[in-house]
Amino acid sequence: MFDIQEIRSQFSILDREVNGKPLVYLDNAATSQKPNSVLEVCHAYYTELNANVHRGIHTLSQLATEEMELSRRKIQKFINAEHDFEVIFTKGTTEGLNLIAYILTQKLQKDDEIIISYLEHHSNIVPWQMLCERTGAKLRVIPIDENGVLQLDYLDQFLSEKTKVVSVNQVSNALGIVNPIEEIIAKTRKNSDAYIVIDGAQSAPHFNIDVQKMDCDFFVFSGHKMYAPMGTGVLYGKREILEALPPFHGGGEMIATCSFEGTTYAGLPFKYEAGTPNVGGNIALGAAVDFMQKVGHQNIQNHENALLEYAQRQLLELEGIKIYGEKAHRTGVVSFNLEGIGISSDVGMILDKMGIAVRTGHHCTQPIMNFFNIAGTVRASFAVYNTFEEIDALVEGVKKAQRMLS
Ligand code: ALA
Repeated sequence: MFDIQEIRSQFSILDREVNGKPLVYLDNAATSQKPNSVLEVCHAYYTELNANVHRGIHTLSQLATEEMELSRRKIQKFINAEHDFEVIFTKGTTEGLNLIAYILTQKLQKDDEIIISYLEHHSNIVPWQMLCERTGAKLRVIPIDENGVLQLDYLDQFLSEKTKVVSVNQVSNALGIVNPIEEIIAKTRKNSDAYIVIDGAQSAPHFNIDVQKMDCDFFVFSGHKMYAPMGTGVLYGKREILEALPPFHGGGEMIATCSFEGTTYAGLPFKYEAGTPNVGGNIALGAAVDFMQKVGHQNIQNHENALLEYAQRQLLELEGIKIYGEKAHRTGVVSFNLEGIGISSDVGMILDKMGIAVRTGHHCTQPIMNFFNIAGTVRASFAVYNTFEEIDALVEGVKKAQRMLS
């Protein structure tokens, strides 16, 4: 039974006011709010358990280690990884993507190719450009059509024995478009030996993820967009692939033996977890998984889809509004501009005065903005705790912005 008021009651921050108005938080694609259960786990960690993991024989260290490893197993189940050691804790999607691009350096040569798409966040563009600079490889970019939909014919043309990496997001952060990753993965497997990387930053908060069924080689996501603390995230990699690739950061925890003559590396997952991890955050990420599973993926999706459909319908009743990706299959995001109002941040500021939080600007996706020949958009993005009344408030805010700015 989906009870929105009961869900909202778990998020204390939703009771606050902003600029004298009840907070309407519609910036969930940037970061979600955290339920009290997650905050309590953070508090309990620092008040009862704080110790470094995997190092101490003392009780607190052992308890902290057990809790973090329990969280790893929760995440393993959450994404249906075959092994818990395929779950590497990171500080977020950006770190995960940079890690992968770095450890693949030796696998690429001059004129090899990396395929990404026009819909990527900068964090799924720049690390690959840097890899191209290191190796002489070339970037190929799957274009989009006027609805923001990937033109997969180009993937067919691009894929060859030169393709070494295909890296795409499952859901676009700027537009909310859901990409056909099953088809992308199937085509890639059929026509190349490329490593397949899926950026799940905007899908893990909404979808049931099954990395085995998906058959990707890597899947990365952030904890803070799915009800967990900032500075948490996960890199999933297939066992045989991670075992064969070199480490990323060197330091404590990632070694088996270390001497001046040479160092041998620890097994998974520690090989990729050098240094002291975000223990409290990683444990709280497990609590965020508990929260999502308790609400239920189907409930989350049904509610968020209903919000999106309602928001789009209401907004389209306004004159002079352009929704990007209006006709595409989307989740959780409505990204728009108002005719005659060139600067999205002006709209964002008026909404903020009404207590409504949205993101404006290019959303770290400048190529998409260039494609549509705009500087930015106003983006409202939804989470499970948002309500239809909040969408009404957004629409009223947009009307007010139109009155004030046009
Ligand atoms: N990538 C985040 C966003 O889309 C920060 O807002």
